Amino acid sequence: MTDYKLLNSQLVALLDGETDALASASNFVGLLYNALDDVNWLGIYVLRRDELVLGPFQGKPACVHIMLGDGVCGTAAKSLETQRVDDVHAFPGHIACDPDSRSELVVPLTVDDKLIGVLDIDSPSLARFSEADQQGIEKLCRTFCDLQRARPDFI
Ligand code: SME
Repeated sequence: MTDYKLLNSQLVALLDGETDALASASNFVGLLYNALDDVNWLGIYVLRRDELVLGPFQGKPACVHIMLGDGVCGTAAKSLETQRVDDVHAFPGHIACDPDSRSELVVPLTVDDKLIGVLDIDSPSLARFSEADQQGIEKLCRTFCDLQRARPDFI
């Protein structure tokens, strides 16, 4: 079981005082990818104009552009609601970047209620992400976004 409280303090220590958004996002992704079991892809899609564009990630090369409303990522971005999908094959419009992915968690990243991107996590196992995982990862995203507020631009 992941210790999200510990991870949150590690994230704060890692990002504290760093003003470069790209470096901070990259370290957020690196920290989380190495802390979670049974994950084959983890990364950030950044909002650029009216689409999501691939940002820092760990895993296989992935699709670069996702329109708002498309796939699991675009649905999270458009609705501003976390998408926890137990079986990606049952999600209408799911975008298959890595064929190994079977379940997925996508958390919208917002600063002052404005979308800046999404965090996307894929697992090769069905129903990998529990309610507790969702809550823990949402809290980490909140911490990350709060630290972004001090920065003029996101990536
Ligand atoms: N599966 C995502 C696309 C991104 S990849 O998983 C890295 C989606 O349906 O939006």
